[in-house]
Amino acid sequence: MEIAIIVAIDQQRAIGKDGDQLAYISGDLKRFKQLTTGNAIVMGRKTFEALPKGALPNRLNIVVSRNKDLQLPGCIVVSSTEEAVEAAREYRKLFVIGGGEIYKAFLPYSDTLHLTVIHHNFEGADTWFPEWSAQEWHCTEKSEVLTDEKSGLLYHYEILVRTSQVRLTFS
Ligand SMILES: NC(=O)c1ccc[n+]([C@@H]2O[C@H](COP(=O)([O-])OP(=O)(O)OC[C@H]3O[C@@H](n4cnc5c(N)ncnc54)[C@H](OP(=O)(O)O)[C@@H]3O)[C@@H](O)[C@H]2O)c1
Repeated sequence: MEIAIIVAIDQQRAIGKDGDQLAYISGDLKRFKQLTTGNAIVMGRKTFEALPKGALPNRLNIVVSRNKDLQLPGCIVVSSTEEAVEAAREYRKLFVIGGGEIYKAFLPYSDTLHLTVIHHNFEGADTWFPEWSAQEWHCTEKSEVLTDEKSGLLYHYEILVRTSQVRLTFS
C-alpha cells in the first residue's frame, strides 16, 4: 500500500492556527477531494474535530487518538499509527491528511508528498509540517503558479517522492 501525505504549507511550512487551517483555497480543496476520494485517509483527533461536517464521504476515515473509548460517527478510531495502517490494509492508498503530530509520525513511513505551497507567511501560525531532507525527497512534478480568486493568494502544487528505498515499514 502506498502511503501519501497531502498538506498545504506556507513559505515557512506552517499549516495551522488555533485548530484551523491557514487558508481555504477552493482549487486546493477540489484537488484534495479528487486525490483522496475512494481511498483511505488518516488524521489526528484534533484535525477530525475541525472538520465542519465530520467524516469525509466516500473515503475510509481513520482517526488516531490515545483515548481508547473514543467513538466518532463514520470513522474507525485507532490508537497508534501501526493500527491505522492495518485498518487501511484493503486499500491501495492511504492518504495522511494531518495535522502536525500525525504528519510528523507518518513522514518516515511515507512514499509520496503532495504539497500545496502557499506563497505567503501567515502571522501567528502555531502548527508546522516537519522539515524533510532534500536528499531523501525529490520533486517529480511542479505546477505553474496559480491564484486563488477569493483571497488573492498565490500557490502551486508539488509532488515529491523518495529518492531511495529508505522508507521505514510498519512491522
Ligand atoms: N494545512 C494542512 O494541510 C492541514 C491539514 C490538517 C490539519 N491542519 C491543521 O493542523 C492543526 C492540527 O494539528 P495538531 O498537530 O494540533 O493535531 P492532530 O495531529 O490533528 O491531532 C493530534 C491528536 O492526534 C492524536 N495522536 C497524535 N499522535 C498520536 C499517536 N502516536 N498515537 C495515538 N494518538 C495520537 C492525539 O489525540 P488525543 O488527544 O485524542 O489522544 C493528539 O492530540 C490544525 O490547526 C489544523 O487545521 C492543517
